[in-house]
Amino acid sequence: MFSTIIATGSAVPQREVTNAELAQLVDTSDEWIVTRTGMSRRRIAVTETTSSLAAAAARRALDGAGLSPDAVDLIVAATVTPDNFTPTVSCQVQATLGCARATCFDLWAGCSGFVYGVKVADAMIRSGAVSRAIVVGAETLSRVVDWTDRGTCVLFGDGAGAVLMEASPAPGVMACVTGSDGTRGGFLRIPGLPIRNPWADATSSTSGGASGASAAEPSVISMDGQEVFRFAVGAIQWSIEEASKLAGVPIGRIRRIVPHQANNRIIDAVASRMRLPREVFYTNLQHYGNTSAASIPIALDEMNRQGLLHNGDHLALVGFGGGLTWGGAMVRWTASATRFPG
Ligand code: ACO
Repeated sequence: MFSTIIATGSAVPQREVTNAELAQLVDTSDEWIVTRTGMSRRRIAVTETTSSLAAAAARRALDGAGLSPDAVDLIVAATVTPDNFTPTVSCQVQATLGCARATCFDLWAGCSGFVYGVKVADAMIRSGAVSRAIVVGAETLSRVVDWTDRGTCVLFGDGAGAVLMEASPAPGVMACVTGSDGTRGGFLRIPGLPIRNPWADATSSTSGGASGASAAEPSVISMDGQEVFRFAVGAIQWSIEEASKLAGVPIGRIRRIVPHQANNRIIDAVASRMRLPREVFYTNLQHYGNTSAASIPIALDEMNRQGLLHNGDHLALVGFGGGLTWGGAMVRWTASATRFPG
């Protein structure tokens, strides 16, 4: 038994924030942001939450497949910005949709979380443990952005995207490859809560080491942009090449590559290094910015709804991000995933 994607969905907040609006907050300009990143606007949650966006995206996928909530055995939510430590985003999605039979857990693998989620769901479906799974990537990064830091606040946006996966006799998900390198975790950080109890020394670090959180650190994103840039280019290339080898699909036969939407220049650099036409790489970061674990499924749903995906197309989904983590999934698209209610 294999797994295949049978529907997609996405949801983004109502509020759009333009580069010009950011230029009123920090010392930046539309020209700088567009030239260095390709981004023009992003959606920012004002009334929405990670869980509400995740539930809306998952519901669209479920409606697209025409299935009842009871048909879902598993919900995996990939996020680095859950609304709570508990209840999890996946359990909130379950409650909102009424997927009473589903086992639910969140998965924390930075911007690679969606690809990791597809790998986990694929493995569980192949093993026979479950028959249908929702994998949703959902973020409200706006809550961990330092809105006074022009080096990071212009890069991120909020949103959610989901796929519904089902057991099938032929492989839709052909291969998943993942990798991690905790030794470089300090390049991209969002500190967690400090240790705080009657026995702790208030001045000490919680875990020591380059990526440990200290009691004084605010929980906002910090990043060594140039190191992340270098890492990203290598990680994307590795993920495409390894997924292609494992799936037995030559790179020249990949119809579209759907990379994590971090920066146009990263994608340009990969295209040039791998001598691939730039058009093979799908980008929508100009509209949504970097939505971390949500960026790939939002892009996939947009492509699906625009009729850009055809039966038999080979797609490479490629994530990279905090941890550091990276991964690629080679997917063979099936026409049954392209149906929408109404
Ligand atoms: N507006 C205007 N100037 C800015 C801004 C801004 N928003 N941000 C930085 N600058 C300035 C810097 O202060 C610096 O000024 P200086 O030369 O006077 O010191 C100058 O621009 C150049 O700064 P760099 O950091 O060297 O700019 P760079 O060309 O490297 O671009 C960027 C920065 C866009 C962040 C780039 O490094 C990058 O894209 N890195 C990858 C980051 C990324 O994608 N992260 C997320 C991936 S993983 C994940 O998604 C979680």
